[in-house]
Amino acid sequence: MNDSIFLEENHRKRQFDCSEHNIDSSLSYTILPFLLKETRKVFTSFLDIGSQEGQFAKKLNDTFNIKRTTCMDINETTVSNGEKKYPHFNWVLGDVTNWNTDETFDLISILNAFYALYSINVIKKLHSMLDKDGLVLISTGDLNFSKRNISDKDIVDSFEREGFTLKSINKIYEKSDAESSVHLCVNSWYTSFIFKK
Ligand SMILES: C[S@@+](CC[C@H](N)C(=O)[O-])C[C@H]1O[C@@H](n2cnc3c(N)ncnc32)[C@H](O)[C@@H]1O
Repeated sequence: MNDSIFLEENHRKRQFDCSEHNIDSSLSYTILPFLLKETRKVFTSFLDIGSQEGQFAKKLNDTFNIKRTTCMDINETTVSNGEKKYPHFNWVLGDVTNWNTDETFDLISILNAFYALYSINVIKKLHSMLDKDGLVLISTGDLNFSKRNISDKDIVDSFEREGFTLKSINKIYEKSDAESSVHLCVNSWYTSFIFKK
């Protein structure tokens, strides 16, 4: 489906023309590569945490010329399927909460998995794995956090306490005709946060 959608960016509504970019306006995360493009950054080393089979990593690689993409997920079947689909990505089977690496990245994303990973430990880990000029992208269904009385401000404050600065915050509506098997909060708002160090 190609049409215009409205994004709420930093509390201002703006129109995003999906047909201009030939993207599916029903699935919230198809827009994320374009939000990243607007930062005018170049990404060479990318880590996707909770990557599932690498579907977002694939979308991002269609937009950016990324040299090294690392997908990590705790689910063995998911990682094994991902390795077959995208053998050129680096695959890690593991739990991010106890995963340690010396590698650093200039872009780290957690999409539709942060509800299970929201902790100071994970935020500290993101900070230590992120390059000086890098960005962290978090996208999460609002229902996951509102049910627990956790607000956007609580999330931003937690990142800022660990040394991050909020670069932008966007709200994107995911329609029910999206691939609902992929995301948990269908027909609802998703918030994406972009943080820098
Ligand atoms: C709802 S899926 C989202 C997949 C993908 N990021 C997307 O947006 O389409 C959540 C993924 O996070 C993974 N996950 C959950 N806890 C994890 C952890 N502690 N470490 C790594 N991956 C985890 C799950 O196995 C699952 O593949």
